[in-house]
Order: sequence, then C-alpha cells, then structure tokens
Amino acid sequence: MTEIMPCDIHKEDPLGKPLKYEAKYDLVIASFCLMAGCLSKEEYQQAWQRIATLVKPGGFIIVMDALEETMYLVGGVKFSSVPINMETVKKSVVSAHLEMVKSIEDTFSGEGTDLSDASKWHFTMAKKT
Ligand SMILES: C[S@@+](CC[C@H](N)C(=O)[O-])C[C@H]1O[C@@H](n2cnc3c(N)ncnc32)[C@H](O)[C@@H]1O
Repeated sequence: MTEIMPCDIHKEDPLGKPLKYEAKYDLVIASFCLMAGCLSKEEYQQAWQRIATLVKPGGFIIVMDALEETMYLVGGVKFSSVPINMETVKKSVVSAHLEMVKSIEDTFSGEGTDLSDASKWHFTMAKKT
C-alpha cells in the first residue's frame, strides 16, 4: 500500500475530479461498501460502473456485499442499505462491461449476525477486458 485516498461512489469519478492519477489500478476491492453507499438498485449498478473506470484493462474488481439487507448497526447507530440480490449483482457486472470470473453467495453465521437484517452475502470477482 502506498497511499490512502478518499473514495465516494456518488461521484462520477469516485476518487474525485480531476483525476490525480492517470494510471488505473490492477485491483479494486469494495468490501461491504456498495450496498451501504447506495439508495436504489439503479445507484448500485451505477456504483459498479464507476469503480470499473478505476481498473485498467486486464485488471480485476472484487466486491462483497450483504444481500437483501435494509439496515445494519455500528456502535448502536442504524445505517441504511439497499437490498440487492444476485440478479442485481450479475446485471451490474454486465452493465459495467466486466467479465464475471467467480461469484459465490453464502449465509452469515456466528458472531455479529444480530448487527444486520441480512442473512446472506456475496463475493464476486470480475475482470475488465
Ligand atoms: C458496512 S461498512 C463496511 C466497512 C468495511 N469496508 C468492512 O468491510 O468491514 C460500509 C462502508 O461503506 C462506506 N460508504 C458509505 N457511503 C459510501 C460512498 N458514498 N462511497 C464510498 N463508500 C461509502 C462507509 O464508509 C463504510 O465504511
């Protein structure tokens, strides 16, 4: 890691305009951020398209999200989440002109399951061709 940069998926360029770096990235990971930062399925799909602009051809995107989640708690504070399903994830990959590499869904278990109304999550890896 060389630097920490702010990222906002509500911006057309999530790292801010003008682009600080011309170079695009080999890998972008969004860990339980996209469903948390979006208010609708359309916004969620757009978020995929936006982070795809950060990846160079041949590079990868890894996204993990809770599925069918409407809220989660952090320190007792409630945050909203857009409820998405695997169909939305697959549509987002296509709409971002990415090639699906691997996608799995699983069930939350163990500690912390009471901090969200989601029961499932997904891990999806896609490639920019
Ligand atoms: C459930 S937390 C996930 C935290 C951490 N990435 C993890 O995997 O444990 C949701 C995250 O979404 C981020 N987030 C919310 N709105 C966002 C936005 N508009 N753009 C980018 N990230 C956003 C928040 O900063 C928060 O860290």
